[in-house]
Amino acid sequence: MQDVSSIDTSTTLFGRNYPVPFGLAPSAMQKLAGGEGPRESVPLIKRAEAAGYEALVLTVDTPVLRNRINERKTPLVLPPGLHLSNLSPPPHSSQTERKPTANRLLMDARTGKKLTPSSSRRVAMKIILKGIMTPEDALLAVEHGADAIVVSNHGGRQLDEVCSTLEALPAIHSALATNVSERGKRNSIPVIFDGGVRHGADVLEALAMGADFVLLGRPVLWGLGYKGQEGVESVIHILERELTKTMALTGVAEVEGIGKEYIGVKDTSMGGFGVSKL
Ligand SMILES: Cc1cc2nc3c(=O)[nH]c(=O)nc-3n(C[C@H](O)[C@H](O)[C@H](O)COP(=O)(O)O)c2cc1C
Repeated sequence: MQDVSSIDTSTTLFGRNYPVPFGLAPSAMQKLAGGEGPRESVPLIKRAEAAGYEALVLTVDTPVLRNRINERKTPLVLPPGLHLSNLSPPPHSSQTERKPTANRLLMDARTGKKLTPSSSRRVAMKIILKGIMTPEDALLAVEHGADAIVVSNHGGRQLDEVCSTLEALPAIHSALATNVSERGKRNSIPVIFDGGVRHGADVLEALAMGADFVLLGRPVLWGLGYKGQEGVESVIHILERELTKTMALTGVAEVEGIGKEYIGVKDTSMGGFGVSKL
């Protein structure tokens, strides 16, 4: 019974308007899937800033790689001609190679020097911390001056036992929504979300649970594998159409209006039959 004759999927993030409330998550080794790979890696932050990049995403959920048992059975070997341009080993690295992984990964890949955490910030770009899974860490991100967070479990590629990002989202959203600074001002930052988003309805669910923006991980790689750039554009268009239809069918015409009231959960009080509101 809502007017859904005109659906607007656009949204605003950092003051910029986007036609859809979703974007593409970062992933390494895209050339393995297809296409030309990233145009150019921009390893130096100052160069990125000079080139007009507006935000820097720092992935904070990978201080070490997990024990990837399947990759031990079938090691990932890059085909000739492909290499990890930002992670090329430091010169004379034979000694560092033998150090335990945790130590090795906390080193600067180029210089071999140990990375030390620093709270000072010297860039004007927005800083987005990716890989937040708890309200405590979300509040720490605000405290340290992050401009946004990405609720992400790295596509479930790091810790098998971790919960889904959709399960983690509500507590993070409410911690940020109720966070106030010492001077009593509301102290919140945008929440970006990724993990398992495959359809337009998944985007709507994440927005309803408190996300401001959503990222697609694997679907982008599938699009690349299917038809390079054209394939990725198809993925985006499919999700855009699905989101439009899902919004029309749930009865909400604008992204801003998508809230918890548009979704329901299994009603456990009736033996798992029926639906109740969150
Ligand atoms: C093959 C692959 C490589 C990835 N590489 C990175 C990476 O280099 N940095 C990063 O922050 N996240 C990386 N991710 C995680 C994605 O950014 C994203 O968090 C995750 O894939 C989202 O889940 P989804 O694949 O279910 O959409 C990678 C994911 C995949 C599948």
